[in-house]
Amino acid sequence: MTRDTEHAAAGSRSIRFLLNGELITVDDVEPTQSVLQYLRETMHLTGTKEGCAEGDCGACTVVVGEADGDRLETMAVNACIRFVPTLDGKALFTVEGLRQGDGSLHPVQQALVDHHGSQCGFCTPGFVMSLWSQYLAYREGANRPTRAQLGNGLSGNLCRCTGYRPILDAAEAMFDLPGVGFDRQAIAERLRALRRSDSLVYTHGGARFFAPRTVNELAGLRAAHPNATILAGCTDIGVWVNKQFRDLGDIIYIGEISELRNIDQGEESVRVGSAVSLTDAYEALVVHYPEVTQMWERFASVPIRNAGTLCGNVANGSPIGDSTPWLIAVGTRVVLRNAGGSRVIPMEDLYVDYMKKSMMADEIVEAIEIPLPKSDQRFRTYKLSKRYDSDISAVCAAFSIRLQGTRIVDCRIVFGGMAAIPKRAENCEAALLQREWSESTVRDATEALVADYSPVSDMRASAAYRLQAAQNLVYRFYLETRPDNPLPATSVSVFTTA
Ligand code: FES
Ligand code: FES
Repeated sequence: MTRDTEHAAAGSRSIRFLLNGELITVDDVEPTQSVLQYLRETMHLTGTKEGCAEGDCGACTVVVGEADGDRLETMAVNACIRFVPTLDGKALFTVEGLRQGDGSLHPVQQALVDHHGSQCGFCTPGFVMSLWSQYLAYREGANRPTRAQLGNGLSGNLCRCTGYRPILDAAEAMFDLPGVGFDRQAIAERLRALRRSDSLVYTHGGARFFAPRTVNELAGLRAAHPNATILAGCTDIGVWVNKQFRDLGDIIYIGEISELRNIDQGEESVRVGSAVSLTDAYEALVVHYPEVTQMWERFASVPIRNAGTLCGNVANGSPIGDSTPWLIAVGTRVVLRNAGGSRVIPMEDLYVDYMKKSMMADEIVEAIEIPLPKSDQRFRTYKLSKRYDSDISAVCAAFSIRLQGTRIVDCRIVFGGMAAIPKRAENCEAALLQREWSESTVRDATEALVADYSPVSDMRASAAYRLQAAQNLVYRFYLETRPDNPLPATSVSVFTTA
């Protein structure tokens, strides 16, 4: 069977997207081909670089645009861990597209030249695209970012040469160079014209990529293909392909289901659909839980948070995810869905053993429901890692207690990095419940914590370090929330030895 007849027989559609403004039609790539490979090897656009191929270095940063009603939303993402079919109906911008009509450099690039922000140059296109994203926001009315905010925006870009100061100098200076326009509306209109009336089914080499449009369609596909890989942000699954060479089989992509991209504010909880990005989800949740702000800023990097989803972090079930401890601590519920309907379970019941979950083969995570905080609730979450930016926690902790006067009437204590799953500390909780929130109680609780976990030693920390750090975090929580004279809240710590 030729490629064309294979397509026709499978009802396959071509993938269509705009690349630096030019319409591209693709029907000859594996469903798991990365955008980076496609750019470099097929389109010979080699400005976008490959450093790590796992979303850590930012050398492959590109910007993706998506029509949202009349608007065009743009976001920096990592091309190395994004599959080509997920670009269907979107606009992709690479460093080559920034060149001006007369061949001159874009102000972002000119500022990097002026301030010596590039040495070997390998990281530079990635920095350019991350900075362009911030440049666009400012040109369209956002506040001028501070140096610290510019640095946060570059948390996903590594440079081994410059020491970053010249890059930040350039970032500050780029706004003062003569401006260059960007016609969002024109791109949004072209994307609206590209929007397909049916769902994308793309077939290549026997592997299928489904992009359903509704939850019902998704549930039906899941029932028909229980072994298919469910794909959302691709920040983890992309690494499976690049580093573990896994064959994913059929893929069901949930990023086109508008129902799953909703954030619904209720009377008692916030419901976050499973296709909501980490960026959007945290933006909505920090309004209610400002204690997670610092954790959010240190969660991976901007491109990862733009692509990855909060429910993906939940469904993944990693024992070292940064969201799971605090979501469990505040009593989050998980909505599971199959063709027969939905069921809701407490989030801590989702995790059974290392990367094993209490989900049926045909179930998917449809949403999570995060309760709003109570007025008498005291809550903190803490992350301990070796690097401040873009690092995995050695220990991640979350504490939530409710006080009547000074007596603890409810408590939920959860640790990541201490067991095979994100796990509540039952003995520690028992040592706190119905007691005064006092120095002697917290001392008892830190002792009780020893019975809750038997952590392992690995490259991130030793078992002894983890246990000691966990006990110290219980005490830190007390110091920051004690009834008299609490210390200011912090949530991220960096350590240099373990
Ligand atoms: Fe390093 Fe993509 S190549 S983040
Ligand atoms: Fe060489 Fe950044 S300029 S890695």
